[in-house]
Amino acid sequence: MIAAKSVEGSTRYQASETAVKLNGISMSYRGKGGASSTVLAGIDLEISPGEFVALIGPSGCGKSTLLKLIAALEIPTQGRVTICAEEPRELARKHRLGVAFQDHALLPWLSIKENVGLPFKLARRPVDNERVEKLLALVGLAHYANAKPSQVSGGMKQRASIARSLMLNPSLLLLDEPFGALDAVTRKQLNIELQSIWTEQKITTVLVTHGVDEAIFLADRIIVLEANPGRIREVINVPFERPRSSSLMRTAEFHKLTDYLTELLEPATNVT
Ligand SMILES: Nc1ncnc2c1ncn2[C@@H]1O[C@H](COP(=O)(O)OP(=O)(O)OP(=O)(O)O)[C@@H](O)[C@H]1O
Ligand SMILES: [Mg+2]
Repeated sequence: MIAAKSVEGSTRYQASETAVKLNGISMSYRGKGGASSTVLAGIDLEISPGEFVALIGPSGCGKSTLLKLIAALEIPTQGRVTICAEEPRELARKHRLGVAFQDHALLPWLSIKENVGLPFKLARRPVDNERVEKLLALVGLAHYANAKPSQVSGGMKQRASIARSLMLNPSLLLLDEPFGALDAVTRKQLNIELQSIWTEQKITTVLVTHGVDEAIFLADRIIVLEANPGRIREVINVPFERPRSSSLMRTAEFHKLTDYLTELLEPATNVT
Protein backbone atom coordinates (compact mmCIF):
# COMPACT_ATOMS: atom_id res chain seq x y z
CA MET A 1 0.00 0.00 0.00
CA ILE A 2 1.33 3.46 -0.86
CA ALA A 3 1.37 5.78 2.15
CA ALA A 4 -0.59 8.95 1.47
CA LYS A 5 1.45 12.12 1.61
CA SER A 6 0.56 14.28 4.57
CA VAL A 7 -0.96 17.65 3.83
CA GLU A 8 0.78 20.43 5.73
CA GLY A 9 -1.22 21.65 8.70
CA SER A 10 -3.89 19.01 8.24
CA THR A 11 -4.39 15.47 9.42
CA ARG A 12 -7.46 14.95 7.24
CA TYR A 13 -5.84 13.00 4.44
CA GLN A 14 -2.88 11.49 6.23
CA ALA A 15 -4.26 8.00 6.63
CA SER A 16 -3.39 5.70 3.77
CA GLU A 17 -6.51 3.56 4.00
CA THR A 18 -9.92 4.55 2.71
CA ALA A 19 -12.67 5.31 5.23
CA VAL A 20 -15.52 3.88 3.15
CA LYS A 21 -15.14 1.50 0.23
CA LEU A 22 -18.07 0.43 -1.94
CA ASN A 23 -17.14 -2.37 -4.30
CA GLY A 24 -19.52 -3.34 -7.10
CA ILE A 25 -22.62 -2.62 -5.01
CA SER A 26 -25.98 -3.64 -6.44
CA MET A 27 -29.25 -3.70 -4.57
CA SER A 28 -32.57 -5.22 -5.59
CA TYR A 29 -35.84 -5.26 -3.69
CA ARG A 30 -38.46 -7.93 -4.21
CA GLY A 31 -41.83 -6.34 -5.05
CA LYS A 32 -45.34 -7.52 -4.14
CA GLY A 33 -45.69 -9.87 -7.08
CA GLY A 34 -42.32 -11.48 -6.36
CA ALA A 35 -40.57 -9.61 -9.17
CA SER A 36 -37.41 -7.90 -8.07
CA SER A 37 -36.47 -4.36 -9.03
CA THR A 38 -32.90 -3.17 -9.19
CA VAL A 39 -32.46 0.03 -7.22
CA LEU A 40 -28.68 0.35 -7.33
CA ALA A 41 -26.33 -1.17 -9.89
CA GLY A 42 -22.54 -1.37 -9.99
CA ILE A 43 -21.66 1.34 -7.49
CA ASP A 44 -17.92 1.72 -6.87
CA LEU A 45 -16.82 4.47 -4.55
CA GLU A 46 -13.97 5.21 -2.17
CA ILE A 47 -14.19 7.89 0.49
CA SER A 48 -11.04 9.18 2.22
CA PRO A 49 -10.77 9.61 5.98
CA GLY A 50 -12.07 13.04 6.95
CA GLU A 51 -13.67 13.66 3.57
CA PHE A 52 -17.12 15.25 3.24
CA VAL A 53 -19.07 13.68 0.40
CA ALA A 54 -22.52 14.77 -0.78
CA LEU A 55 -24.86 12.40 -2.64
CA ILE A 56 -27.37 14.02 -4.93
CA GLY A 57 -29.76 12.66 -7.53
CA PRO A 58 -33.43 12.48 -8.47
CA SER A 59 -36.03 11.21 -6.01
CA GLY A 60 -36.08 7.42 -5.91
CA CYS A 61 -32.59 6.95 -7.39
CA GLY A 62 -31.41 5.08 -4.30
CA LYS A 63 -29.62 7.69 -2.15
CA SER A 64 -31.22 6.60 1.14
CA THR A 65 -30.72 2.96 0.16
CA LEU A 66 -27.02 3.62 -0.38
CA LEU A 67 -26.76 5.28 3.02
CA LYS A 68 -28.58 2.34 4.64
CA LEU A 69 -26.10 -0.05 3.03
CA ILE A 70 -23.21 1.97 4.48
CA ALA A 71 -24.95 1.95 7.88
CA ALA A 72 -25.45 -1.84 7.70
CA LEU A 73 -29.23 -1.36 7.92
CA GLU A 74 -29.49 -3.21 4.60
CA ILE A 75 -27.29 -5.88 3.02
CA PRO A 76 -26.36 -5.41 -0.67
CA THR A 77 -27.56 -8.01 -3.15
CA GLN A 78 -24.10 -7.87 -4.71
CA GLY A 79 -20.79 -6.32 -3.79
CA ARG A 80 -19.15 -5.34 -0.56
CA VAL A 81 -19.12 -2.36 1.78
CA THR A 82 -16.11 -1.85 4.03
CA ILE A 83 -15.64 0.94 6.51
CA CYS A 84 -12.14 1.58 7.85
CA ALA A 85 -11.33 -1.94 6.58
CA GLU A 86 -14.18 -3.41 8.68
CA GLU A 87 -17.65 -4.69 7.93
CA PRO A 88 -20.25 -1.93 8.52
CA ARG A 89 -22.03 -4.11 11.08
CA GLU A 90 -18.86 -4.19 13.17
CA LEU A 91 -18.67 -0.39 13.20
CA ALA A 92 -22.36 -0.13 14.12
CA ARG A 93 -21.84 -2.64 16.92
CA LYS A 94 -19.03 -0.48 18.32
CA HIS A 95 -21.32 2.59 18.12
CA ARG A 96 -18.84 4.35 15.82
CA LEU A 97 -21.55 5.35 13.34
CA GLY A 98 -23.40 8.65 13.71
CA VAL A 99 -26.68 8.65 11.86
CA ALA A 100 -29.31 11.35 11.28
CA PHE A 101 -31.85 10.03 8.80
CA GLN A 102 -34.60 11.68 6.76
CA ASP A 103 -37.36 10.35 9.03
CA HIS A 104 -35.34 10.08 12.22
CA ALA A 105 -37.70 11.51 14.82
CA LEU A 106 -36.85 12.53 18.35
CA LEU A 107 -38.70 10.65 21.08
CA PRO A 108 -41.54 13.01 22.04
CA TRP A 109 -41.69 11.99 25.69
CA LEU A 110 -38.01 12.77 26.32
CA SER A 111 -36.53 16.27 26.71
CA ILE A 112 -34.11 17.61 24.09
CA LYS A 113 -31.25 16.86 26.49
CA GLU A 114 -32.43 13.28 27.07
CA ASN A 115 -32.89 12.72 23.34
CA VAL A 116 -29.39 14.01 22.62
CA GLY A 117 -27.90 11.80 25.35
CA LEU A 118 -29.81 8.72 24.18
CA PRO A 119 -26.87 7.12 22.31
CA PHE A 120 -25.12 6.57 25.66
CA LYS A 121 -28.12 4.61 26.93
CA LEU A 122 -28.37 2.60 23.71
CA ALA A 123 -24.65 1.77 24.06
CA ARG A 124 -25.28 0.89 27.73
CA ARG A 125 -22.85 3.52 28.92
CA PRO A 126 -23.36 6.12 31.64
CA VAL A 127 -24.58 9.39 30.13
CA ASP A 128 -21.69 11.86 29.86
CA ASN A 129 -23.59 15.02 30.84
CA GLU A 130 -20.62 17.25 30.12
CA ARG A 131 -20.52 16.03 26.52
CA VAL A 132 -24.30 16.38 26.18
CA GLU A 133 -24.03 19.99 27.33
CA LYS A 134 -21.06 20.69 25.05
CA LEU A 135 -22.88 19.40 21.98
CA LEU A 136 -26.12 21.18 22.91
CA ALA A 137 -24.10 24.40 23.09
CA LEU A 138 -22.36 23.60 19.80
CA VAL A 139 -25.68 23.38 17.96
CA GLY A 140 -27.14 26.38 19.83
CA LEU A 141 -29.62 24.50 21.99
CA ALA A 142 -28.16 25.16 25.45
CA HIS A 143 -31.28 27.08 26.50
CA TYR A 144 -33.67 24.41 25.27
CA ALA A 145 -32.15 21.41 27.06
CA ASN A 146 -35.25 20.75 29.15
CA ALA A 147 -37.84 21.47 26.47
CA LYS A 148 -39.78 18.64 24.84
CA PRO A 149 -39.45 18.24 21.03
CA SER A 150 -43.04 19.52 20.60
CA GLN A 151 -42.00 22.80 22.24
CA VAL A 152 -39.16 23.64 19.83
CA SER A 153 -39.03 24.58 16.15
CA GLY A 154 -38.30 22.24 13.23
CA GLY A 155 -34.78 23.66 12.89
CA MET A 156 -34.10 23.03 16.56
CA LYS A 157 -35.23 19.41 16.23
CA GLN A 158 -32.85 18.98 13.31
CA ARG A 159 -30.03 20.47 15.37
CA ALA A 160 -30.85 18.09 18.23
CA SER A 161 -30.77 15.19 15.81
CA ILE A 162 -27.33 16.26 14.54
CA ALA A 163 -26.04 16.73 18.11
CA ARG A 164 -27.31 13.23 18.92
CA SER A 165 -25.53 11.75 15.88
CA LEU A 166 -22.22 13.29 17.07
CA MET A 167 -22.60 12.15 20.68
CA LEU A 168 -20.35 9.07 20.66
CA ASN A 169 -17.55 10.60 18.57
CA PRO A 170 -18.45 8.67 15.44
CA SER A 171 -15.82 7.64 12.90
CA LEU A 172 -18.42 8.08 10.20
CA LEU A 173 -21.37 10.46 10.03
CA LEU A 174 -24.30 9.63 7.75
CA LEU A 175 -26.83 12.40 7.19
CA ASP A 176 -29.94 11.83 5.08
CA GLU A 177 -31.51 15.17 4.16
CA PRO A 178 -31.08 16.49 7.68
CA PHE A 179 -32.42 19.91 6.69
CA GLY A 180 -35.00 18.73 4.16
CA ALA A 181 -38.09 20.22 5.77
CA LEU A 182 -36.66 23.62 6.65
CA ASP A 183 -37.09 27.08 5.17
CA ALA A 184 -34.21 28.45 3.07
CA VAL A 185 -32.91 30.89 5.69
CA THR A 186 -32.77 28.36 8.56
CA ARG A 187 -31.25 25.85 6.20
CA LYS A 188 -28.45 28.21 5.19
CA GLN A 189 -27.77 28.99 8.84
CA LEU A 190 -27.58 25.28 9.71
CA ASN A 191 -25.30 24.65 6.73
CA ILE A 192 -22.86 27.19 8.15
CA GLU A 193 -23.16 25.59 11.60
CA LEU A 194 -22.66 22.10 10.20
CA GLN A 195 -19.55 23.28 8.39
CA SER A 196 -18.03 24.66 11.57
CA ILE A 197 -18.92 21.50 13.55
CA TRP A 198 -17.39 19.39 10.79
CA THR A 199 -14.26 21.59 10.58
CA GLU A 200 -13.76 21.16 14.32
CA GLN A 201 -14.34 17.40 14.43
CA LYS A 202 -13.17 16.34 10.93
CA ILE A 203 -15.44 13.30 10.77
CA THR A 204 -15.80 11.43 7.50
CA THR A 205 -19.29 12.47 6.40
CA VAL A 206 -21.77 11.34 3.75
CA LEU A 207 -24.65 13.78 3.28
CA VAL A 208 -27.69 13.04 1.13
CA THR A 209 -29.37 16.21 -0.04
CA HIS A 210 -31.69 17.62 -2.69
CA GLY A 211 -30.06 21.02 -2.22
CA VAL A 212 -27.47 21.61 -4.91
CA ASP A 213 -26.17 24.72 -3.15
CA GLU A 214 -26.00 22.82 0.14
CA ALA A 215 -23.93 20.09 -1.51
CA ILE A 216 -21.52 22.60 -3.08
CA PHE A 217 -21.19 24.63 0.11
CA LEU A 218 -20.48 21.66 2.35
CA ALA A 219 -18.79 18.93 0.34
CA ASP A 220 -15.29 18.12 -0.85
CA ARG A 221 -16.80 15.87 -3.49
CA ILE A 222 -20.30 15.55 -4.95
CA ILE A 223 -21.50 12.20 -6.24
CA VAL A 224 -24.33 12.65 -8.72
CA LEU A 225 -26.55 9.58 -9.07
CA GLU A 226 -28.95 8.81 -11.90
CA ALA A 227 -32.08 6.69 -11.52
CA ASN A 228 -33.43 3.35 -12.81
CA PRO A 229 -31.19 1.78 -11.82
CA GLY A 230 -29.22 4.02 -9.49
CA ARG A 231 -25.71 4.50 -10.87
CA ILE A 232 -22.98 7.08 -10.43
CA ARG A 233 -23.44 9.59 -13.21
CA GLU A 234 -20.72 12.06 -12.36
CA VAL A 235 -18.27 12.86 -9.57
CA ILE A 236 -17.45 16.50 -8.99
CA ASN A 237 -14.52 17.78 -6.95
CA VAL A 238 -15.66 20.99 -5.30
CA PRO A 239 -12.89 23.53 -5.95
CA PHE A 240 -13.60 26.01 -3.14
CA GLU A 241 -11.13 26.56 -0.28
CA ARG A 242 -12.14 26.14 3.35
CA PRO A 243 -13.37 27.60 5.55
CA ARG A 244 -16.24 28.64 3.32
CA SER A 245 -18.38 31.59 4.29
CA SER A 246 -21.88 32.48 3.14
CA SER A 247 -20.39 35.09 0.77
CA LEU A 248 -19.09 32.17 -1.32
CA MET A 249 -22.71 31.48 -2.31
CA ARG A 250 -22.87 34.89 -3.99
CA THR A 251 -19.83 34.37 -6.22
CA ALA A 252 -20.02 33.74 -9.96
CA GLU A 253 -18.05 30.46 -9.60
CA PHE A 254 -20.56 29.15 -7.07
CA HIS A 255 -23.49 30.06 -9.32
CA LYS A 256 -21.79 28.45 -12.30
CA LEU A 257 -21.36 25.14 -10.48
CA THR A 258 -24.93 25.37 -9.11
CA ASP A 259 -26.28 25.86 -12.64
CA TYR A 260 -24.20 22.99 -13.98
CA LEU A 261 -25.45 20.58 -11.31
CA THR A 262 -29.05 21.76 -11.54
CA GLU A 263 -29.01 21.13 -15.27
CA LEU A 264 -27.50 17.69 -14.71
CA LEU A 265 -30.40 16.84 -12.40
CA GLU A 266 -33.16 18.08 -14.69
CA PRO A 267 -35.27 15.16 -15.99
CA ALA A 268 -35.10 16.47 -19.56
CA THR A 269 -31.34 15.82 -19.68
CA ASN A 270 -31.95 12.17 -18.82
CA VAL A 271 -34.35 11.59 -21.68
CA THR A 272 -32.49 11.14 -24.94
N1 LIG B 1 -37.52 -1.57 1.81
C1 LIG B 1 -37.82 -1.40 0.53
N2 LIG B 1 -38.53 -2.34 -0.15
C2 LIG B 1 -38.83 -2.18 -1.46
N3 LIG B 1 -38.45 -1.12 -2.20
C3 LIG B 1 -37.74 -0.18 -1.59
C4 LIG B 1 -37.38 -0.24 -0.20
N4 LIG B 1 -36.66 0.86 0.12
C5 LIG B 1 -36.58 1.59 -1.00
N5 LIG B 1 -37.22 0.99 -2.02
C6 LIG B 1 -37.31 1.48 -3.39
O1 LIG B 1 -36.01 1.79 -3.83
C7 LIG B 1 -36.01 2.98 -4.63
C8 LIG B 1 -34.99 3.94 -4.06
O2 LIG B 1 -35.44 4.39 -2.81
P1 LIG B 1 -34.60 5.41 -1.92
O3 LIG B 1 -35.41 5.69 -0.73
O4 LIG B 1 -33.24 4.88 -1.72
O5 LIG B 1 -34.53 6.67 -2.90
P2 LIG B 1 -33.99 8.15 -2.63
O6 LIG B 1 -33.02 8.46 -3.69
O7 LIG B 1 -33.53 8.27 -1.22
O8 LIG B 1 -35.31 9.03 -2.83
P3 LIG B 1 -35.75 10.41 -2.12
O9 LIG B 1 -34.88 11.47 -2.74
O10 LIG B 1 -37.17 10.56 -2.52
O11 LIG B 1 -35.56 10.27 -0.65
C9 LIG B 1 -37.43 3.49 -4.65
O12 LIG B 1 -38.01 3.08 -5.85
C10 LIG B 1 -38.08 2.80 -3.48
O13 LIG B 1 -39.43 2.58 -3.73
MG1 LIG C 1 -34.18 9.35 0.48
